[in-house]
Amino acid sequence: MDKIVIRGGERLIGEVEVSGSKNATLPIFVSCLLSQGDNLFYNVPHLRDVQTIIKVLENLGVRVSEKNGVYQINATEISNDEAPYDLVKTMRASILVLGPLVARMKKATVSLPGGCAIGARPINLHLMGLEAMGAKIELRHGYIEAKADVLKGANISFDTVTVTGTENLMMAATLAKGKTTLQNTAVEPEVVDLANVLNKMGARINGAGTSLIEIEGVESLHAVEHTIIPDRIEAGTLMVAAGLTRGNIKILHCPLSEMEMVVHKLRESGMEIESEGDGVRAVGMKRIRSVDIRTQPYPGFPTDMQAQFMVLMSLARGLSVISETIFENRFIHVSELRRMGADVRIQGDSAIIQGVESLSGATVMATDLRASASLILAGLAAEGVTVVSRVYHLDRGYEGLDKKLAKLGANIKRVKEGD
Ligand code: EPU
Repeated sequence: MDKIVIRGGERLIGEVEVSGSKNATLPIFVSCLLSQGDNLFYNVPHLRDVQTIIKVLENLGVRVSEKNGVYQINATEISNDEAPYDLVKTMRASILVLGPLVARMKKATVSLPGGCAIGARPINLHLMGLEAMGAKIELRHGYIEAKADVLKGANISFDTVTVTGTENLMMAATLAKGKTTLQNTAVEPEVVDLANVLNKMGARINGAGTSLIEIEGVESLHAVEHTIIPDRIEAGTLMVAAGLTRGNIKILHCPLSEMEMVVHKLRESGMEIESEGDGVRAVGMKRIRSVDIRTQPYPGFPTDMQAQFMVLMSLARGLSVISETIFENRFIHVSELRRMGADVRIQGDSAIIQGVESLSGATVMATDLRASASLILAGLAAEGVTVVSRVYHLDRGYEGLDKKLAKLGANIKRVKEGD
């Protein structure tokens, strides 16, 4: 396994390009299960999670190929309706195939995802919605078995806002008989990108991007061409990198309009962030101000930016409070940041951070994607050498982050574990 070695202290300067969004690509690739013909996708990020969803689809008989970064996906023939444990355990988002498979194949067998590093992450709302649409669901030997001769439109209200839950049911409803109403839905840009793809395929979805989505079922869907939206979490991570190193970077393909809360909080911390021509300029200041945040579903502050923001706060003047309201165990990075000299206390769902003058390099690791990214950021700002191992997690969701940072002037390299 690779590890990343960083010698901190370099200012980041230059231009960097944001890749396509991971959390848009995953459901969009899955949505091909509902369509006939060759779908073509552009701006697909090269990530381990994308490779995993391709394996899940290929296991169902879907044909996937890639040429010069353009992905072609054809699910005209589906030969299998099972997503096995071995694949689902490596990526929970595999659960996204459940709704589309039942809609298209009348049945599906999908391994129940277990708990994961950041929390229990139940899928009860995905199952509740499919049952309301007439699916019979049984849990057997660790698998969800779902069957429905016909899925029928239904009125479904989510108790909790769920991103993949909204996506799963929205996809299933496109081929259901009649009208489905989804209430209290996730309004994330990735949900909107998926709805745009489904509508291009011939679906009749209204209201994506609001908390009420209405879907009029259709008989069949056809193939599309689509360019995946840029990754707002990667863009935010790069902004924090500039903030931590007193950097001055221009971020290309930056989805600024989808980052209002993150940008607001970064500006409050003292950063300058402004549109500039075809990109966004992010400039870090000598003095970082302490800012409180509370994670919320979109358009609130994203839980996927919480760990990165905490690194910035660990070097701020004064005390800040970060509350994590989405996942119950998303402070995995805290113990590693403490080893680098951060002063962080956990109290219930909050982290209380007393900014320190400097962090010091250390050997660290993390078992979650965003936690791993936060340790790389800490390494950029720390004195001395930081070694981040288990880079596997980083590669799940960031395309070449180490290379992009190196191009901006960071002293960072990837080496084989053991070297
Ligand atoms: N929840 C339930 N029941 C359900 C579904 C969710 O109680 O049936 C709860 C969860 O336990 C959690 C909350 O609802 O407390 C929100 O979870 P959500 O379902 O929205 O999360 P998700 O769909 O599993 C997606 C992203 C995550 C991101 C969250 C929150 C994808 C593939 N994953 O997960 O991304 O953190 O939404 O925004 O879109 C990441 O990229 O690092 C990542 C973890």
